Amino acid sequence: MTQTTFDLVILGGGSGGYAAAMRGAQLGFSVALVEEDKLGGTCLHSGCIPTKALLHAAEVADVSRQAASVGVRASFEGIDLPRLYAYRDDVVDRLYKGLQGLVASRDVTLVQGHGRLVSPTAVQVGEVTYSAARAVVLATGSIARSLPGLEFGGRVLSSTEALSLPELPRSAIILGGGVIGVEFASLWRSFGVDVTIVEALPGLVPNEDRSCGKALERAFRRRGVAVRTGVRVDAVEQNASGVVVSLEAGEPLEAEILLVAVGRGPRTAGMGFEEVGVTLDRGFVQVDDSLRTQVPGVFAVGDVVDGLQLAHRGFQHGIFVAEEIAGLAPAPVADSYIPRVIYSDPEVASVGLTEAQAKEKFGADRVESIEYNLAGNGKSQIIGTSGFVKLVRDKDGPVVGVHIVGARAGELIAEAQLVVAWEAHPGDVAPLVHAHPSQNEALGEAFLALAGKSLHAHG
Ligand code: NAI
Repeated sequence: MTQTTFDLVILGGGSGGYAAAMRGAQLGFSVALVEEDKLGGTCLHSGCIPTKALLHAAEVADVSRQAASVGVRASFEGIDLPRLYAYRDDVVDRLYKGLQGLVASRDVTLVQGHGRLVSPTAVQVGEVTYSAARAVVLATGSIARSLPGLEFGGRVLSSTEALSLPELPRSAIILGGGVIGVEFASLWRSFGVDVTIVEALPGLVPNEDRSCGKALERAFRRRGVAVRTGVRVDAVEQNASGVVVSLEAGEPLEAEILLVAVGRGPRTAGMGFEEVGVTLDRGFVQVDDSLRTQVPGVFAVGDVVDGLQLAHRGFQHGIFVAEEIAGLAPAPVADSYIPRVIYSDPEVASVGLTEAQAKEKFGADRVESIEYNLAGNGKSQIIGTSGFVKLVRDKDGPVVGVHIVGARAGELIAEAQLVVAWEAHPGDVAPLVHAHPSQNEALGEAFLALAGKSLHAHG
């Protein structure tokens, strides 16, 4: 007979859900993980992994274009779309098989089907009700949002369709200069597409430090990406050959396709949450610091919880909830220590507060910041990247924010994350020796500069 009572019943098998399932099983709980599509969710199948595979191919395209500048004879001949997709799918498939193996090896019961919360302790899938003896975890993720009156379809795409275009367009308009917008702009530009970004706010990546948005905009303009900031869309029309986007002011824009990347919303509708008493706010599940909803025994993790919509936050939420249910009293997951990486060219990576946020928190006169330019960093010069490391500190206090622009910034942010999370002072970090020549050295130099001991910077 099919087992229908488990310690934990988890609704959603994406980053948050499968992490809760695996950590729960590790802690000795019996676990049912309900997933209607594929284990691994958006991140593995239509988000982080496939987009970064395409962005890697974009980097290879640019490297081949620039090879002559370092004395290597090579040339860029074009993009072989079927081969590109085969490479991407191969990466995803390998990770998917690995994940399926891991989940099976932990004795997690994977329930395939659409689940619905039918009571504070039960999830129904088809005709079967799965009961939770200890807790239910809501991990249903997020979906692409559009603008009122603008539906996805035809030439109006979300990032999911944009990942698998049957052919590369000659031109594209991207609505939204946030994370998805700039990653696709970067990718498509490297593939030879004429790209225009339309962003309503005054700068690109407005959730990041202002200096990062400005640097990215300069780099994009140099790469031939058209950037329109502070611009609102009035209407969108599709015709046989493309889309026409009318703006509140100025000439309309035309392109073959329109990518709408104006944010992702929580996926919480129609699954019985509110009927059971779970409170939603703008669709997000309301939780306390321990990720408990108002209904005892029901937790929520990942993108359904308001805050940073990042897979690694979801993983950590999942681990946290399993440990919390086991009574291990884990430390709550603070968004402020979670690194953020945008995989455009150049990359933007950050952790902690922006300068503006620090000024708001500590008062403008208490905040110090420095920018160390990668022009002074040997390895950055060798690989031909420009950008900076910016540090923000509470005067006489610890470093509260680190912001990096440049190639491989996403790898450099790991050290910065330790500095911010451990509330280190510049003087604690400055004596640490960084390998030479490495891009990491730029962080070392920035900390030296903040401690008043810079060698490789003017001033
Ligand atoms: P986002 O919130 O990062 O950016 C949306 C942008 O659209 C904002 O800059 C906003 O000002 C702009 N916008 C909103 N309405 C507009 C309008 N009417 N006209 C023009 N611009 C408008 O959301 P995005 O890029 O859709 O990404 C969704 C989520 O997915 C984000 O939270 C992001 O962190 C996550 N994500 C993370 C990635 C990573 O970590 N590398 C990669 C892709 C997505």
